[in-house]
Amino acid sequence: MSTSSTEAAPRKKRERPVIAIDGPAGAGKSTMAAHLARRFGFLNLETGAMYRALALKAIENDLGFEDEAALMDIASRTKIRLEPQLEGNRVLLDGMDVSRRVRDTDVTAAASQVSVHPRLRAWMVEQQRLLGDRGGVVMEGRDIGTVVFPDAEVKIFLDAAPEVRGNRRYRQTMPGEMVPAKVTESSIVQELKERDARDRNRVDSPLRPAEDAVVLDSTSMTLDEVLAAAEQVVRKHVEDGQLH
Ligand code: C5P
Repeated sequence: MSTSSTEAAPRKKRERPVIAIDGPAGAGKSTMAAHLARRFGFLNLETGAMYRALALKAIENDLGFEDEAALMDIASRTKIRLEPQLEGNRVLLDGMDVSRRVRDTDVTAAASQVSVHPRLRAWMVEQQRLLGDRGGVVMEGRDIGTVVFPDAEVKIFLDAAPEVRGNRRYRQTMPGEMVPAKVTESSIVQELKERDARDRNRVDSPLRPAEDAVVLDSTSMTLDEVLAAAEQVVRKHVEDGQLH
């Protein structure tokens, strides 16, 4: 099954919209998704958590991240569940809460590697469409506006310079958290750049803004400004009568 699609896909009549948020790692997509979900009463779904959960299962089963057939084999026996909460998603892997574990650096790196495989992406996309098809969701990831929901009512592509994303991430993770001494601001920037390169250069569903996405570059914006801008984009659709 191919996950590619046309961005000009005819719009389905949904009672409530799909808000697609895409962009590179560390741009603040989850914060934006959680904010918009609270503001407009939608569910927020972090699709990256699904890739992370499968990557965790690959680690636990000692699989090579390049072995698509083996990954598909475990995928067919895996249940991944996202439970939207106020600040993010609770992630259940075969019924086990792995919300914290999937954020560890080994899982982060593995998720970026397993997500290049087309058959695995098709499997994820199918589930993501089932989750969001009825609308009333803010779905964030890398390919939501281009592949998962090319007919999304609102599409935002959130970007920022890698150094700024790395700095924000560094400041977020430091207070009171046990972080290995080798994790520095520049190692975080380096890791983000590697993940970006993999996401942007993969053959299937590379990271890029959909043609009809509103691109927000938050490099020189405060968090409040970014959230206000995103709210404005959604509100415009309310005013255009496209949101119920
Ligand atoms: O968004 P997050 O950083 O949690 O995503 C983890 C990894 O999953 C990313 O580095 C990316 O490679 C992959 N991903 C993807 N498509 C999505 C969401 C995430 O390829 N829709």
